[in-house]
Amino acid sequence: MPIRPILTFPNSLLRKRAKPVKNIDNEIMNLIRDMKETLTEASGIGLAANQVGVLKRVVVISNSPESDAVAYINPEITHRTGKRDVVEGCLSFPGYSGIVTRSVSVSARYLDESGGKIKIAADELLAQALEHEIDHLNGILFLDHLKEHEKLSMTTPEYRPHTHDINVSVNVQNNQGEPEFNKKLYTKIGIDDLKLALDRAEIIKDAE
Ligand code: NI
Repeated sequence: MPIRPILTFPNSLLRKRAKPVKNIDNEIMNLIRDMKETLTEASGIGLAANQVGVLKRVVVISNSPESDAVAYINPEITHRTGKRDVVEGCLSFPGYSGIVTRSVSVSARYLDESGGKIKIAADELLAQALEHEIDHLNGILFLDHLKEHEKLSMTTPEYRPHTHDINVSVNVQNNQGEPEFNKKLYTKIGIDDLKLALDRAEIIKDAE
C-alpha cells in the first residue's frame, strides 16, 4: 500500500507519543517508502509516522522541490537558536494555517535509512520542518504553538482539497453537537482552535 491515508485532527493518534525505532527492518523501510510517496502525493513538506497511524519515530521531509524526500529515524533536536514567527500549516489540518514561533536554526541528530548516525545543522524551512515533525512524534501539533490561537485561517481561498481531505468534512459533522471534548487528548488551546476551525469550515462550506 504505497499511499497511506493521512489522519486529520482530532484523530487521537496525533496526540500520542511515537516509540523509538529499534531495528531498521523491512517494516520500517516499507513505512518510509510509503510515507515518501504519501508526502509527494500530498505536495507536503513533511510527514510524521503518527499522521499515517504508525506510532514509530520516523519522519520524512522534502524541503525543496529539487531534492528527494529524506527520512529521519529517531530524530532529536539537540540545540535551538533564535526565534522567528512563521506561517505554518500541517497535512493533518488541510487548508488551514497560522502564525507560530519557531527557532531560527536547529541542530539535530537522527539515523539515516542505513542506520548511520547523522548530525546536522539546519535553518529556514528545514529547521521549521524538523521542529514541526519532531513535535508530531511527541504528540504536539502546530496548534499548540499558534501565536494568536484565535487566528487559525484558511490557507488560500482557492484551496482545493486533496482526496484524503474528505476527513475534514467528516470531522466537521462528527463534532457538531458534541458539547465536550476528551480533555485527555486535547489541550484547551487545541479545543478552542478546533471549534473555531470548525466554525470557519462551516462558513466556507456555506459559501460554496
Ligand atoms: Ni504536521
